Amino acid sequence: MNTPRTALVTGGNRGIGFEICRQLAGNGVHVLLGARDRAAGDQAAQALASEGMSVETLELDVSDSRQCADAVRQVAARTQRCDILVNNAGVMLDARGSGVLDAAADVFHQTFETNVYGPLRLMQALAPLMCSQRYGRVVNVSSGLGQLHDMNDGTPAYRMSKTALNALTRMFAAALREDNVLVNAMCPGWVRTRMGGPNAQRTPQQAADTALWLATLPDDGPSGGFFRDRQPIPW
Ligand SMILES: NC(=O)c1ccc[n+]([C@@H]2O[C@H](COP(=O)([O-])OP(=O)(O)OC[C@H]3O[C@@H](n4cnc5c(N)ncnc54)[C@H](OP(=O)(O)O)[C@@H]3O)[C@@H](O)[C@H]2O)c1
Repeated sequence: MNTPRTALVTGGNRGIGFEICRQLAGNGVHVLLGARDRAAGDQAAQALASEGMSVETLELDVSDSRQCADAVRQVAARTQRCDILVNNAGVMLDARGSGVLDAAADVFHQTFETNVYGPLRLMQALAPLMCSQRYGRVVNVSSGLGQLHDMNDGTPAYRMSKTALNALTRMFAAALREDNVLVNAMCPGWVRTRMGGPNAQRTPQQAADTALWLATLPDDGPSGGFFRDRQPIPW
């Protein structure tokens, strides 16, 4: 293929998402940097463009179903294809110290809008384009906090949202396997971002490496897996 691959990265304006944009663009991928705040997206895209990278902003709040549909229409109109989707945008809204016994229902709803329904909307909307291309790579940025094998109390809405995202990963992988659309989930580890805080052990650069790998898998690469540091981890 001579035209560069095109990627849509949600929540690309900061944190791990910004670094995923940088690593994809640094590997020759044209990046649509999704941001719910247009100005923040433009600032991030300009920072990467000033390093010579091929990046443009796409205004996208993944919790808004109309914006998701519009964004997919814009991707198709602007680039005629979409090879890579990175569902990175995420929120952790649980009140500090709250557990499943006292968690508020609306926190579950709000968390799911971004962490689960956002990826669901985008995967559903982009699947026809990826299938028609007979090429697609979807990376769902999940979390070890969503692992059932190690499930615990604490941040219950966030945990449950990532477990649900993992389930969606398996479903879409099964549905799209025959069309060369590979769908995987990853845990970035504990990362120094606004969400991870200053005491986290890992850099966004380290976290983004697995996303880059999954976003550029060869056709015989894995699908329906869960990875950290390019290695499979339990669900
Ligand atoms: N940091 C960690 O230790 C860690 C560990 C495991 C998993 N993760 C996962 O890694 C991903 C990135 O996290 P991070 O640490 O980079 O977090 P972050 O620094 O808080 O950045 C989150 C990004 O998501 C965007 N976002 C939030 N809600 C959105 C929405 N509705 N629509 C579009 N964008 C939205 C934010 O945009 P605004 O700037 O507009 O707020 C921001 O760009 C998340 O899915 C998170 O769950 C992180």
